[in-house]
Amino acid sequence: EKQYEFILTSRPAEGVALITLNRPKALNALSTPLFTELNDAVKRFDEDDSVRALVLTGSDRAFAAGADIKEMKDKQFSEVFKGKFLESWGLLTTIRKPIIAAVSGYALGGGCELALMCDIILASPSAKFGQPEINIGVIPGGGGSQRLAHAIGKSRAMEIVLTGRNFTAQEASDWGMVSRVVPDEEGGVVKAAVDMAAVIASKSAIAVQAGKEVVNAAFEHTLAEGLRYERRLFHGMFATKDQKEGMSAFAEKRQPKWSHS
Ligand code: CAA
Repeated sequence: EKQYEFILTSRPAEGVALITLNRPKALNALSTPLFTELNDAVKRFDEDDSVRALVLTGSDRAFAAGADIKEMKDKQFSEVFKGKFLESWGLLTTIRKPIIAAVSGYALGGGCELALMCDIILASPSAKFGQPEINIGVIPGGGGSQRLAHAIGKSRAMEIVLTGRNFTAQEASDWGMVSRVVPDEEGGVVKAAVDMAAVIASKSAIAVQAGKEVVNAAFEHTLAEGLRYERRLFHGMFATKDQKEGMSAFAEKRQPKWSHS
């Protein structure tokens, strides 16, 4: 595995890559160097055929406590505007493979936004989400206002963004932002995320990629466009070997053997 300064990478299960944010002294604050490494790892795993699902996590204490405030504090408008500050964060949302966020501890500001960029969020009971930017005189800048509003609805998103209060794992779950709060007795949220990623990795990679694309279309298109997009991609599946294999295996009462093509 390639060595990084601010992240760790590993292969905890067949077809699964795990990226662990590892800047403990700053509660995984998302500095530019950290994000550069994260993007590099994400891109490499997306291009690696032996990886079919990713998990992103932090430490028990912090998934990530936000963008690096110390790095941002003296920046000027012309600098952030001309340099398209934070635009590179979006790379994570352009990958083909599913990425699951396993969140423990603080997921604040950019940390909450980072979790929201992932396809699935699992939370430990210790997870604390929030968009506290209002407390430091700004607003979310990594997609928080948009993705949070999609995830939890307007009134709650307004409350969170305008009061800057944190919300709990249970609230995030009740509001539909996280799939599940994983009780500690189950061996932890990272294990649950890796297990889920391993299930996804056991499916046809081409069907998984298409499935991710069509669910995302629900957030980007009108209903009519989204339905058409889904149907066309569904039709397209009939050009894949895995459609033939999957349906034949069902008819022959045997397990499918995916070629991921
Ligand atoms: N940026 C830079 N450093 C940070 C940081 C951040 N977002 N969050 C924590 N740290 C650093 C602290 O400065 C501290 O460093 P030092 O030991 O050198 O002083 C270290 O991490 C440990 O933090 P604390 O001592 O503050 O730990 P705590 O347990 O007392 O508090 C906390 C934890 C409540 C998360 C608190 O650190 C905090 O409020 N952090 C900032 C949260 C925040 O405002 N995030 C939003 C950032 S803005 C943003 O993300 C913009 C965007 O939309 C992209």
